[in-house]
Amino acid sequence: MMRAEHVFHRFTGPLLPVAVRGEGIYLIDEAGRRYIDASGGAAVSCLGHGHPKIVEAIARQTAALEYVHTGFFSSEPAEELAAAIVGMCPGTLDRVWYTSSGSEAIEAALKLARQYHLERGDSGRRHFITRRLSYHGNTLGALAAGGSAWRRAPYEPMLIDVSSVDPCFQYRFAEPGESPEAYGARAADALEQEILRLGPETVIAFVAETVVGATAGAVPPVPGYLRKVREVCDRYGVLLILDEVMCGSGRTGTFLSCEQDGVVPDIVTLGKGLGAGYQPIGAVVCTSAVYDAVAQGSAALKHGQTYNAHPVGCAAALAVLDAIWDEELLIRVLDAGRRLTGLLADRFGDDPHVGDIRGRGLLQAIELVEDRSTKTPFDPALGLHQRAKAEAFERGLLIYPGGGTVDGRSGDHILLAPPYNVTDQELELIVGLLGDTVDAVVPA
Ligand SMILES: Cc1ncc(COP(=O)(O)O)c(C=O)c1O
Repeated sequence: MMRAEHVFHRFTGPLLPVAVRGEGIYLIDEAGRRYIDASGGAAVSCLGHGHPKIVEAIARQTAALEYVHTGFFSSEPAEELAAAIVGMCPGTLDRVWYTSSGSEAIEAALKLARQYHLERGDSGRRHFITRRLSYHGNTLGALAAGGSAWRRAPYEPMLIDVSSVDPCFQYRFAEPGESPEAYGARAADALEQEILRLGPETVIAFVAETVVGATAGAVPPVPGYLRKVREVCDRYGVLLILDEVMCGSGRTGTFLSCEQDGVVPDIVTLGKGLGAGYQPIGAVVCTSAVYDAVAQGSAALKHGQTYNAHPVGCAAALAVLDAIWDEELLIRVLDAGRRLTGLLADRFGDDPHVGDIRGRGLLQAIELVEDRSTKTPFDPALGLHQRAKAEAFERGLLIYPGGGTVDGRSGDHILLAPPYNVTDQELELIVGLLGDTVDAVVPA
């Protein structure tokens, strides 16, 4: 293919190959090379590529009704999808606001949280508390909420002021010998202290990824942490916003990952796996209490975008949820997740440069360290995670690595997020290729 060289690519350096087709877990480039997609891009393609039922649903909806503006009409797929999402969500999560991406879902969630308090006459609430080493998106509000130092740095003067606490990250933040329960209580206590420091009557919401994705590499909370967080938020009337753009939509074996922590947030954000890569769609799901505050107050969220609730996006997401249901994929995620954990433990359990193997369901990661006993990371100047990505690519394996795992600057991890319908043989192939990749890039 001739390249016009007018695309402003993500990297302005050497051109990346052009992908032309997807088949199941494989992507194929224009030279016919096949790549096993072990991360679904950035944990997006949860059904693999070319799923015929999603393709068909998109074609059908496009032919019937490609677009309506939400200021004029609702649409059948928007209504049906909301019912399906609410049916899969726990507790009183009851209303769905649609967006076209995860970042937009976070933006809408932040505004909804502030407006919830305003509608109740609580106008002094102006602070968000977020967590270091988190990622919530790249638009300015979402970037401000995120705690990824290198992503924030160039735009720092443009970001709203948020306050932050440490994440719940056992491998890096628990004291030696501290039990998970004690550590979780200590991490949740840090939130309470921050609320008290700011003044409880000034805090809008606490924002956290249920399982940390891109910045720290598949870090699940320790048992009990989120329950304690829920109690703290309730004590001070602070809303709990859980970001499940990466870990939700079934990625960890339950529709929302926080179901496994026994917690219902006031607001949860979805994206990525919701459209499974077939359409750009995100969602904000809120409880009836949050919705009612708006409905019984000013009767409109002061927000809205042209492509909200896009009928084709909603039809695709509905077909994705149907496929997850019909193909019993949540159970498969749990089984395949256990299988993946076992394979990673077999391959890297004795590797002196793999400090931690962690994750939940089919969102898993390994963390690379120079010295396992001291957990010392490699020199960031080595760019190890980038080298791992390039090496894996050469071997026909697509992974989602990240740097700054420890403190936003140093540390390297490799994230895996294969499709929910991945086979055991494909998992073995992925872990085999990943092992060869790590052996090839880690300095002797
Ligand atoms: C947890 C989380 N929230 C929000 C986002 C932003 O989503 P998007 O890239 O679709 O805007 C991401 C993307 O990686 C994410 O992982």
